[in-house]
Amino acid sequence: MSSDLVTAAKTETLRTIQHRMKEASITGVPIVEDKRLLGIISMHDILTAFDEGTIDEAAESHMTRNIKVLEDDMPLSFAISYFNKYLYGRFPVLNKNRELCGIITIRDINTTLLREVNRIVEELEGELKQDVSEDSDSGVISFQHYVVRHDFENAGRASADIKRILKAHGFDPQTIRRAAVASYELEMNLVVHSHGGRLSFRMDPEKIEIRTIDTGPGIPDVDKALEVGFSTANEWIRSLGFGAGMGLANVQRVVDDFFLKSAKGKKTDATAIIKRL
Ligand SMILES: Nc1ncnc2c1ncn2[C@@H]1O[C@H](COP(=O)(O)OP(=O)(O)OP(=O)(O)O)[C@@H](O)[C@H]1O
Ligand SMILES: [Mg+2]
Repeated sequence: MSSDLVTAAKTETLRTIQHRMKEASITGVPIVEDKRLLGIISMHDILTAFDEGTIDEAAESHMTRNIKVLEDDMPLSFAISYFNKYLYGRFPVLNKNRELCGIITIRDINTTLLREVNRIVEELEGELKQDVSEDSDSGVISFQHYVVRHDFENAGRASADIKRILKAHGFDPQTIRRAAVASYELEMNLVVHSHGGRLSFRMDPEKIEIRTIDTGPGIPDVDKALEVGFSTANEWIRSLGFGAGMGLANVQRVVDDFFLKSAKGKKTDATAIIKRL
């Protein structure tokens, strides 16, 4: 998203706005008052104004008012779905106070996607190197799984892998269920709340260990986060069915030991242990 915004006031004329567009090489200008978005003047509006002889009139009477906007904490996939759904070339972005804080174009999307693809390829290369390792002498099985922020499409893969491994090793259904609950909740917290991270699974003759370490943004109050019903999930996360504030409490309930280390601005390190003996 570009936050270096070129905007105009509702009283400015379309001609002034057209000059501003030309100078900045852009094709749309948000009309703003006290940081509030009132409308947008696009190149199409300018061309129509030239056509109809209204180019010296104020933006106010020609701007598009019913604008589809994005919110600054929405994931990229939401932005992409807007471009597909509404066929506009740009969407203004609002912050929590409903103030205009940026504008996103299809070009921004392409650049971000390319960067993301490169990052995922690098991660996959790393992951392939660390595929499931099994040492039959010591009975240790381990693997790591990278979890990408807001990647709801692949969410749940790590816990599905854990379930499969435990099943293949003849674990009883209750242990498998406990490990599945713990790993799913921790994995989903990486997807929903973290900047991304790693889930690692390790099993030895004594215990099953499921651990997630992420890259932030950290939990300011760990005790509070463990309380049933406490959640900082925002509205769109809740619309996807998450954010009941049950996850960490569920992990604590189903495992034998649970350690949660975090602080505001730091990584979150969560370790869940199920004893085998
Ligand atoms: N990895 C993490 N990074 C940052 N914050 C986290 C992380 N995991 C949990 N939290 C914080 O702890 C809170 C409680 O987590 P918990 O899993 O119990 O509930 P939830 O994820 O909000 O909802 P649910 O798990 O029921 O869908 C979260 O809302 C979030 O504020
Ligand atoms: Mg959760």
